[in-house]
Amino acid sequence: MKPLSEGRVIELRGQFPALAREHQGLPLVYLDGPAGTQVPRRVIEAMSEYFSRCNANHGGQFPTSQDSDAWVDRAHDAFADFVGAKDGREMVFGQNMTSLTFALARALAKTWEPGDEIIVTRLDHDANVTPWVLAAQDAGVTVQYVRTRLEDCTLDMEDFRQKLTEKTRLVAVGAASNSVGTINPISEMVSAAHHFGAKVFVDAVHYAPHQRMDVKAWNCDFLACSAYKYFGPHLGILWGRRELLESLEAYKVRPAPHELPGKWMTGTQSFESIVGGLAALDYIAEIGKSSAEDGELSQSQAYDSAFRAIREYEMRLASQFIGGISALSRFKLWGIQSKDRLAERMPTFAVTHESMPSIEVARYLGEKGICVWHGHYYALNLSTDLGREPAGMVRLGLTHYNLAAEVERTLGALAELG
Ligand SMILES: Cc1ncc(COP(=O)(O)O)c(C=O)c1O
Repeated sequence: MKPLSEGRVIELRGQFPALAREHQGLPLVYLDGPAGTQVPRRVIEAMSEYFSRCNANHGGQFPTSQDSDAWVDRAHDAFADFVGAKDGREMVFGQNMTSLTFALARALAKTWEPGDEIIVTRLDHDANVTPWVLAAQDAGVTVQYVRTRLEDCTLDMEDFRQKLTEKTRLVAVGAASNSVGTINPISEMVSAAHHFGAKVFVDAVHYAPHQRMDVKAWNCDFLACSAYKYFGPHLGILWGRRELLESLEAYKVRPAPHELPGKWMTGTQSFESIVGGLAALDYIAEIGKSSAEDGELSQSQAYDSAFRAIREYEMRLASQFIGGISALSRFKLWGIQSKDRLAERMPTFAVTHESMPSIEVARYLGEKGICVWHGHYYALNLSTDLGREPAGMVRLGLTHYNLAAEVERTLGALAELG
């Protein structure tokens, strides 16, 4: 694999019109990727082209509808490939991860009985907590919460193992924390859960822009993510094992398709977003192809190669950020701090200033054209457990389109605060 050089990243950045936006004479620094990344030109063009050429509803006997349906069919296969699955019928599109999770939780809860239990974590985004908690309430099922080890913001695996029993029907866990960047041991959790016959739902929303998702390797039962976190438009994606998607009862209006892949998709889809999502996958594949040493790569191999290059590059930036922030004595970095443990985290950093409220730090950076988030970013239980409510933390989320100079500029701005 050829590493992503700074020159190559600058070329890639040229594909993102938003990265050229300036504020007070300097380019904006986008560290808000965990809340939504910017999109390359091809995504904008694909969506525009969809509207110009094949904007039509599903299932018509005329060219625009046929073209639109062909795009959507292609997208089912492409997104299956992207999550490491083989069958496009296992891919469900929807408004966003949260809506898809609510729909699945409601359907799964119909198979639960009083006395059953489900497991969620206190590290997760609330979109992977409350849909399950509400479904459990409806079904009279007990919810167990896996604790977070507050010293490094990792999941307490001993607590997880203790809570897992033959009563457990579902484990809902995030592949990576959108707040502090922790990567969770998904394969290990899946095999422990399967041992007790529990299904596993993986929230890969924060994982997807940084590392290759692989439902086969993880052996999970469901996975959800969102294309707007990986250089695409607002579009939710759910993958489920075919036999489960087939056997579970989906809440549907009567005339809508009751077979896969349409079964879990409600109402009219955002076809333009599905087409834009496909273009985002193409962008990622292009990174992989240009990072490969030799030979023609399949799309799937291109994703592998892309995420190897992205990961290596992002970890260089992460190391630079950790080095810089640890020298700023008035700031605290939450979660995994050691450069030796980079393999356990994403380049997503939550920091706090010893006296300045998070919103003020974010405003200060914002005025300097550095886009960061403040608050709990919906990882509400984590923020509460860390004693950070209501002020929250400041999140600086790096992606592969960020540059070492931007990390430096951000550290410089933080240094002005002490
Ligand atoms: C880890 C994680 N899970 C779930 C979500 C919710 O995703 P969506 O906006 O697609 O519902 C987010 C959004 O920030 C997230 O970061």
